[in-house]
Amino acid sequence: MSTRPIGVAVIGAGMAGRAHLNGYRAASTLYDAGLPEVRLVAVAVADAHEPFAVDAARRYGYARAETDWRAIADAPDIDAVSVVVANSLHREIVEALLAAGKHVLCEKPLAPSVADARAMVRAAEGSGLVAATGFTFRRSPAVSAIHRQVREGSLGRVRHFNGHYWCDYGHHPDAPLSWRYLGGPGSGALSDIGSHLVDLGEYFCGPVRSVQGAVLSTQVPDRPVPLGVAVGHSADVAVGAERRPVENEDIATFTATFDSGTVGTFSSRASPSAWRTPWASRCSRRAGPRPSI
Ligand SMILES: NC(=O)c1ccc[n+]([C@@H]2O[C@H](COP(=O)([O-])OP(=O)(O)OC[C@H]3O[C@@H](n4cnc5c(N)ncnc54)[C@H](O)[C@@H]3O)[C@@H](O)[C@H]2O)c1
Repeated sequence: MSTRPIGVAVIGAGMAGRAHLNGYRAASTLYDAGLPEVRLVAVAVADAHEPFAVDAARRYGYARAETDWRAIADAPDIDAVSVVVANSLHREIVEALLAAGKHVLCEKPLAPSVADARAMVRAAEGSGLVAATGFTFRRSPAVSAIHRQVREGSLGRVRHFNGHYWCDYGHHPDAPLSWRYLGGPGSGALSDIGSHLVDLGEYFCGPVRSVQGAVLSTQVPDRPVPLGVAVGHSADVAVGAERRPVENEDIATFTATFDSGTVGTFSSRASPSAWRTPWASRCSRRAGPRPSI
């Protein structure tokens, strides 16, 4: 194995970008000696968000902060790159990185459409580079243990996969309209958190053959436009009076049949199962914590 140092960079310094920044920083504390040194080279975000790049580079010990991801693609001292920005930006960035000879870890979901995702997979397959997607739950010890039991047969044949991913990050009707609420049907709770469930379903049970009875529902129809940059679930950015339509679902539910004959029930939700109206009328214009039910 080569012991040449590996230069790494992260594009995006929001909620998940910081986890990648920290992950590369911690990598050498977890793996055996003899692996190449990991050099923390650069963080890149879009122009408007430059303070995030500078702050992230300083906090996590990266040498450079860039305001254009193309600088990462062009940099000869960078070998491997995490792409941790809004889903609609993934394809262009990943294809350019692969064309520039970089190994790529792209966050899930790979892309907003099957056509884009297939094109990205084709680009990766022909590249001879390492390319991966951030389906992080596969690395959870509990998930690994279940997977081992399924693979070794100690659980017997799996007949029913029942997956729920219920969050309340979208619980507040005054939470700012970030990229998570934009894009067509299927780009909301289904792709944001449901993609993890679909991945786990196929990890345990093999390929899905067919899907039945899908319902995509938008319970919060509009949200206020943020006055600043909305990062992650954006609970601490101020919002103005202007509201715009939410373009995707906050509840997604469907059943599926796997090739093996296993039946699947899937449910992903970015808002609570119920909420009391008085809370909504009492809350301030700033989206703050509110109990979910
Ligand atoms: N694997 C997981 O468990 C997990 C968890 C959360 C998010 N994610 C994924 O990570 C990705 C990012 O999600 P997030 O919650 O961190 O988003 P976020 O909104 O918190 O952060 C997005 C970042 O992208 C930057 N950015 C925006 N436009 C850019 C551009 N043109 N070039 C470079 N940077 C740009 C922003 O400045 C910001 O730093 C999404 O694909 C999401 O699905 C994965």
